[in-house]
Amino acid sequence: MAMLEIDKICASYGNVRVLWDIDLQVEEAKIVALLGANGAGKTTLLNTLAGMLRPTSGEIRFMGERIDRLQSSDIIQLGIAYLPEGGRLFPDMTIKENLEMGAYPAALWKNRKREAEKIYRMFPILAERKNQLARTMSGGERQMLAMGRCLMSNPKLCFFDELSYGLSPKMAEEVFRIVKMLRDRGITVLLVEQNVNRTLEIADYAYVIENGRIVLEGEGRTLLEDDYVKQAYLGI
Ligand SMILES: Nc1ncnc2c1ncn2[C@@H]1O[C@H](COP(=O)(O)OP(=O)(O)O)[C@@H](O)[C@H]1O
Ligand SMILES: [Mg+2]
Repeated sequence: MAMLEIDKICASYGNVRVLWDIDLQVEEAKIVALLGANGAGKTTLLNTLAGMLRPTSGEIRFMGERIDRLQSSDIIQLGIAYLPEGGRLFPDMTIKENLEMGAYPAALWKNRKREAEKIYRMFPILAERKNQLARTMSGGERQMLAMGRCLMSNPKLCFFDELSYGLSPKMAEEVFRIVKMLRDRGITVLLVEQNVNRTLEIADYAYVIENGRIVLEGEGRTLLEDDYVKQAYLGI
């Protein structure tokens, strides 16, 4: 049994259907990537998995338990953390305060000091600057803070939406290094990306979504060599 099992998920905004019969599995302690062009439905799928959008049909199971009717606050307490596109930090709060925002809801709040210490060991740059305002950080540092905040709930599974978007190649590389480090520590990652090449290099398994449907799946290294992926996503 996979850690996360998605069976035939459909989702809509009003009358407009965006996701069609999505089947996807995420095995524990793996990096699984969801790749696709702008507007394909990647963020919609993450919102659905995180309890922010109700699927119109289908089932989502996390460690054997159905989660597709739970509230997002219950889902986070089961051990799923979601880093939305753009990070959504609070620029006028300090780095420490931003991290603590990741320890909501109340059941997680009591552990916030212990969790913050773990994050500071993982990201020394956050420790050095914990009393500075988030707005003083560079784009790459902010993305690290956003990842740190996501990890404050001590998750078993993380959803990362467009982590490398807008970062310099060097910072993007750093972000991918951290994703691999998380996997090596046993944290499972579902990674949504448009940086197809780099993502397939680190992903254990990947899915390609087009117009709300999964059109291709396979091991990361295999998809890197796939003629369709090369043509449609790598421009080679
Ligand atoms: N809140 C919304 N209301 C209506 N349509 C939306 C909303 N968010 C996204 N969409 C539409 O759903 C489709 C999928 O969007 P999205 O999941 O954001 O794609 P991606 O993350 O792959 O770029 C797009 O056609 C987009 O215009
Ligand atoms: Mg998106």
